[in-house]
This record gives sequence, structure tokens and C-alpha cells, in this order.
Amino acid sequence: MPSASSPIARTREPLGHSTSSAPETPRERWRKAFVAVRAETERRAARLSPEDQVVQSMPDASPAKWHRAHTTWFFEQFLVTPNLPGYKAFDPRFGYLFNSYYVAAGPRHARPMRGLVTRPGVAEVGDYRAHVDAAVTKLIAEADDATLARIAPIVEIGLNHEQQHQELMLTDILHAFAHNPTAPAYDADWRPPTASGEVGIVELTEGIHTIGHDDASFCFDNEGPPHRELVGPVRIARALVTNGEWLEFMRDGGYANPALWLSDGWDEVRAEGWTAPGYWTEIDGTWHSLTLAGRQPVDAAAPVCHVSYYEADAFARWAGKHLPSEAEWEVAARGGGLGDAFGVVWQWTRSAYAPYPGYRATEGALGEYNGKFMVNQMVLRGSSLATPDAHSRVTYRNFFYPPARWQFTGLRLADYPA
Ligand SMILES: [Fe+2]
Repeated sequence: MPSASSPIARTREPLGHSTSSAPETPRERWRKAFVAVRAETERRAARLSPEDQVVQSMPDASPAKWHRAHTTWFFEQFLVTPNLPGYKAFDPRFGYLFNSYYVAAGPRHARPMRGLVTRPGVAEVGDYRAHVDAAVTKLIAEADDATLARIAPIVEIGLNHEQQHQELMLTDILHAFAHNPTAPAYDADWRPPTASGEVGIVELTEGIHTIGHDDASFCFDNEGPPHRELVGPVRIARALVTNGEWLEFMRDGGYANPALWLSDGWDEVRAEGWTAPGYWTEIDGTWHSLTLAGRQPVDAAAPVCHVSYYEADAFARWAGKHLPSEAEWEVAARGGGLGDAFGVVWQWTRSAYAPYPGYRATEGALGEYNGKFMVNQMVLRGSSLATPDAHSRVTYRNFFYPPARWQFTGLRLADYPA
């Protein structure tokens, strides 16, 4: 795991909850959680130069400066402006610049053009963050108890939202660095997580299980309602698929055999010229991968990373196996059977990202957070090396389009008794 001094070291305490024995008021817990999460964003950004922070390498990836400003706008738009009397916006134009996709919050700058916004500069975005930080901490400090109870869920979703962007800051800068012939290191001292070394399979017999978020702790709305699913019989690998196994797939002509691929996946292979996972380069006969520590030789024992859903699916077919469904993954993970379920790579499942039975999006603009994306994407489970620890949970549903591979994405395999 990253060392404690790493820019992606994490806090382990759930947001807004204290594990210390001294009684702490909710007001103090929220203040501390807010300060900690906001500081983590700045810690991750601190390794990036102003030039690094402006670049946008593709429409799906955003500049680091934009992430810093957009997470701030989220608090300003949904928490401070409606709830802090007398609040004066830092700059009224920022609502247009830094709204991402909230139609109910008004018009917004086009996503593919984020990298063309050189002003406000990095320093001014820092001032914007400080302005909103002061407003949020004032609101938390001065709100009466009833108001605090009412706004706490907005603080909480704002912090969880910012943690999602903390991960994206790293995936997006890595994508930008991949376009730099010098293969820059985000952090030369960064080391990949160590695989757990678990082997074997988890065997689930046929049964009806409840999946989905079912306690009072925070979750995104897409994690519920909890509901019953018929699961099994299925066998799920305890270990993630490794680079060594992926090299066997490559040597066996995996990227050249259309019989292994979904039709859309094969189109993508040909259009993009894929012959290896994302960020892999062959140098003098040895495969290298761009990591947060720069270009490194591929470690055969490490979990494969930066593969798309199409690649994961083709690999599973080549191996004579399948990707687990998200319900199978969750039941196995709840039982503690999966090695490296969290903190290494997000794991593709074969489940389409769709609403759970009875799902209804939250009312208002925040209802746009998850629900409107529930088509044409696939679910990933677990979490990655870039996910803040307090942001991982067994019911978490991440989702991306099948060709995406700039996230830290890998897989584990499943199969079914004949
Ligand atoms: Fe966002």
C-alpha cells in the first residue's frame, strides 16, 4: 500500500463519524470531516504544476484545476447559497464554468472545452476554495441544531462527491501524462498496492440473498433499495487476474481473435489498435506500463489494470470463464471471500448499470447525481488504489462505458458448475 507520506494515503474513518472515545458533537465531527476531505484534494493537487492542472487530454478527463473548482461549486451551489444567509458568491460566473451536468442548476460550459479555460488560474481557484471553505465552516459552526441536522446530508454527499473527484484527479492526470513522451511521474516514490496473495475460489451455493445498502450509514442513491437476488451456484476467484495471465492472453493472440470479442468490442480493438492494456508500451521486448510513479516494467504478479469492459469480457471468454454479476460479487465480498476486493483495481462485472427494483432518484437537482446515467454502462465493484479508503464499501456501484480504460480497472473471474 502507499506509504503514509504518499499523496494518496488515506484516512480510514468514515466521514462524520468518530472512533475516538471522547464524545464529540455532530457539529465538530462534520467540521473535521469537511476540513479533512478538502485538505486531501489539495494534497493530491500539490504535486501538479499550474500547467499540469490546466490540461484536458480527452473529453472524459477533466483538468485538475477544474476538479478543484467543480467540487467547490458543488458546496456553493447545493449547501452554502441556499442555507447561509447573506452569502456572497466568489464569482457569479463560476456557476456556468464549473457546473458539470446538473441541468436543474442551470446552463454550463461544454465538457470537452474545460481544458481551454485558462482563467481563473490555479491561484484564483485556490482563493475560490478558501472562500467557500470559510462559508461552509461558518455555516456548520453557526447553524442551529435543526438546520444542522437538515444540511448534514448535503455536507455528506458533498464530501463523498469530492472523494470521487479525488480519484478522478489521479486517473485524469495519468491520462494526460500518457500523452507526454517523457512519461512523467506523478509521484516518483509511489508504489503499487501489494496483492493479497489469496488463491482459490469462493463457492456460492444456490440461494436468495439481499444485496444493496441496508443500514443507516451513507450511500449513494444507486446502492438501494436493498432487495433479494437469486445467486449461485457460482465459483468466484479469490484473486484478481494478473499481468502474467494477461500476457498469456496476448501471446495466445487474444487481441487478434474476433471469436473472443463482443462485436462492439472487436470494433473498438480495430479502431483503436489495441494490442495490450492501456498505458502499456513494449520497450526492447519488455512490456512497460505508465503508473503514478512513471513508466515501470510490467510486474507479472501484479493485478492487471487499465483494461476496458470489452477486454475483460474477451479475457474471460478466452479463459473459458465469465465475469461475475454484481450480485455474485457482493454476496462473495460480504462473506469475506474475495482477496483484494478493495484498494487495488475496480473490478468489472457483467451487470449492466440499471436501477435496482424500486429505485427512485433523490428529488431535486441532486437527483441528477446517478439516476440519469443508468443506461449503456457496466457496473464495477470494489475500489482502486486511488480511492480514498473511507470511500469504499461492499455495496458501492461504480459505472463506466464499456470502452473506458483510463480508470484503474481490472477483473476477477467466475464460473458455473456444469
Ligand atoms: Fe462532480
